[in-house]
Amino acid sequence: MFLRCFACEARYGNVPTLYTCRNCGSPLEVVYEDAEFHRAKTFDGRGVWRYQPILPVKKAVTLGEGDTGLHRCERLGRELGIPRLYVKNEGENPTGSFKDRGMTVGIALAKAVGARAVGCASTGNTSASMAAYAARAGLVALVLLPQGKVAMGKLSQAIAHGARIAQIDGNFDDAMRLVVELSLKDRSLYLLNSINAYRLEGQKTLAFEVCETLGDAPDALVLPMGNAGNIGAIWKGFNEWKRLGRIKRVPRMVGVQAAKAAPIARAWRARAKFRAMSNPETVATAIRIGAPVSWQKALAALTDSGGEAGTVTDREILDAQRLLARTEGLFVEPASAVPIAWLRKRKLKGARTVVCVATGHGLKDPDALQGAPVRMHRVKPTLAAIRKVLDA
Ligand code: F0G
Repeated sequence: MFLRCFACEARYGNVPTLYTCRNCGSPLEVVYEDAEFHRAKTFDGRGVWRYQPILPVKKAVTLGEGDTGLHRCERLGRELGIPRLYVKNEGENPTGSFKDRGMTVGIALAKAVGARAVGCASTGNTSASMAAYAARAGLVALVLLPQGKVAMGKLSQAIAHGARIAQIDGNFDDAMRLVVELSLKDRSLYLLNSINAYRLEGQKTLAFEVCETLGDAPDALVLPMGNAGNIGAIWKGFNEWKRLGRIKRVPRMVGVQAAKAAPIARAWRARAKFRAMSNPETVATAIRIGAPVSWQKALAALTDSGGEAGTVTDREILDAQRLLARTEGLFVEPASAVPIAWLRKRKLKGARTVVCVATGHGLKDPDALQGAPVRMHRVKPTLAAIRKVLDA
């Protein structure tokens, strides 16, 4: 196992504290030599750690992550014209988002390297997850959050798990720059953002689970993009599953961003050089990011898989969130409704089996429903009055 630069292919050893390439500053990825990779013949146990033979660490810090439901959505599929539509509901993870897949591995590495504290910048879910796993491991957690832009459910989790919370007078991108700088100066602080290639190894397991449940790869996988770690991690997972001979083909990867926080989709559409956006804005605060650290990995996944990038407006996001909750019983946070919003307006040619990744639980961000048209009736405590509500 070794680290390789995603851009210039410079090769490093197995160094969990190396976050970016010393030559060019690009993100790294964990690569397994053929011999060790193909030793991974059997997988047993459950969740993320079922795949330990192709994870970078042996000893787990776990809360029971992974093994989330892959829900067939027939009614919604009919509405969207997709014969087999599935939602992989990552809200079923211990802290309510896909981040737990990465944190269980990342925190295990932090223990292995003898870190005193772990740190991250976050739009909310990473901080919630890291705070929980740090508590589990007996490590100090430092989280940098954009002031006033983190949903209440997520902030409550960081508070409950005893994280040290720095609210930055700036956005996620400012917080991200600061925490990277701090972790390079103070080596006892282990950085657990998705720039950490080892953390992303945990997130690739979503691809394994999808293939094992379906018995094959889907035609397409649609997911939201923010800091852009997840799309690259899942794409790596599909390719490793193929390398193991478990599937013969890989899916098209479709990455979707909020219209006003869409630097990757913009570069993709214009076939232009990537440029960060300075003032990203969206109701889906989880993906309110203008300078995603893993943009190179995202663009590679989109290109190499024959996939595409798209955008959706805030209105479309909130409508899709309600549609999914009402037609399928799946309540997801706004960022997680982004794939459904996109599929409502864009037909994926030839894609019969489509998996949408619902990245986080709806209860994370209860305020998102503030503007929703609701039918609530204040009534007298009589049967007649209550019947009227039923018949309304
Ligand atoms: N969906 C949700 C619910 C998220 O919290 C995030 C990222 C994403 C999608 C995008 O994933 O960054 O890998 O492209 N949240 C990070 C955080 C940035 O701090 O919690 P990505």
